[in-house]
Amino acid sequence: MHQPQDSEALDALVKRLPKCELHIHIEGSLEPELMFTLAQRNGVKLPYDSVEALRRAYQFTKLQDFLDIYYQGMSVLITEQDFYDLAWAYLLRAKADNVRHVEMFFDPQGHTSRGVAFGTVVDGLTRAISEARRELGVDAHLIMCFLRHLDEGDAHKTLDEALPHRDKIIGVGLDSSEVGHPPSKFQHVFRRARDAGLFPVAHAGEEGPPQYVWEALDLLGVGRVDHGNRSLEDDSLVARLARERMALTVCPLSNLRLRVVQDLTQHPLRRMMDKGLMVTINSDDPAYFGGYVNQNFNAVGGALKLTREEIVAIVRNSFTASLLPQAAKDAAQAEIDRVLAEQT
Ligand code: ADE
Ligand code: ZN
Repeated sequence: MHQPQDSEALDALVKRLPKCELHIHIEGSLEPELMFTLAQRNGVKLPYDSVEALRRAYQFTKLQDFLDIYYQGMSVLITEQDFYDLAWAYLLRAKADNVRHVEMFFDPQGHTSRGVAFGTVVDGLTRAISEARRELGVDAHLIMCFLRHLDEGDAHKTLDEALPHRDKIIGVGLDSSEVGHPPSKFQHVFRRARDAGLFPVAHAGEEGPPQYVWEALDLLGVGRVDHGNRSLEDDSLVARLARERMALTVCPLSNLRLRVVQDLTQHPLRRMMDKGLMVTINSDDPAYFGGYVNQNFNAVGGALKLTREEIVAIVRNSFTASLLPQAAKDAAQAEIDRVLAEQT
């Protein structure tokens, strides 16, 4: 009963369970093939000759190595149709992984800084989201992230641009280069965002110290912590996260590819669970890190020898930690019960 799953059983279980994805940067789902298609469509020159050459460049030793290539990659996204195509491709993948609900990050400053209008980005993403709801049965929502390597004034301007589109955005996040850009730098703009009813989240403790997780909680008022790995270095922080049932959106393959962990058998997910933290599993930037959400479950589940009960608990957490209404959360938990009852 509490045995680790063999890889086939793990794969089958993960596939059958309905899931939420709470940490996916839509620009990080831009697959090389689509990047080349859009580059050609828009007359953008990429510094790679082929899809294979581009994939070979995906060798990272730290977050910044990835971010440099990620910002370069998004330069092919220019028209409303491009943002639609990007989001639609991801939502099809989400459907294939039995993801039912997505809270999707996007980086408006990565586009407005290149002269793409905020409305173009949001309209394209929103059109794909509306179609996915109707045609795929996948429900998705947008969380707008501020780029933390830029100053707070730029974030304020971005929030100003977002407010006319308030009905299409459910939350705000904080991403990009972590070390040297603590959450405290963004406390005023997060207050404004919270006052506008936007749900606050932030990347913290991916490469940055536990202090950044404290700041995300105390100064930004976050309702979830994205990554949070380094929280484990601070026992009183762990106690607080456990007491408050604060969700961590953990991204195993991202952590591996960005060398946050050296090996998935060393991934902190096991210790997080042992300490009673509310963990979820997510893909972060699947086109760059080698796997969508189910592949993240399978890779870390295999490496840490997670039991069926542990996998199910993590999947249940994804609904609990989501912004779905309580009735939808209850319905999802009941569906998980039915899937488990059917599975021998
Ligand atoms: N932007 C996209 N992916 C990111 C990550 N893993 N950390 C910080 N910023 C990001
Ligand atoms: Zn992320």
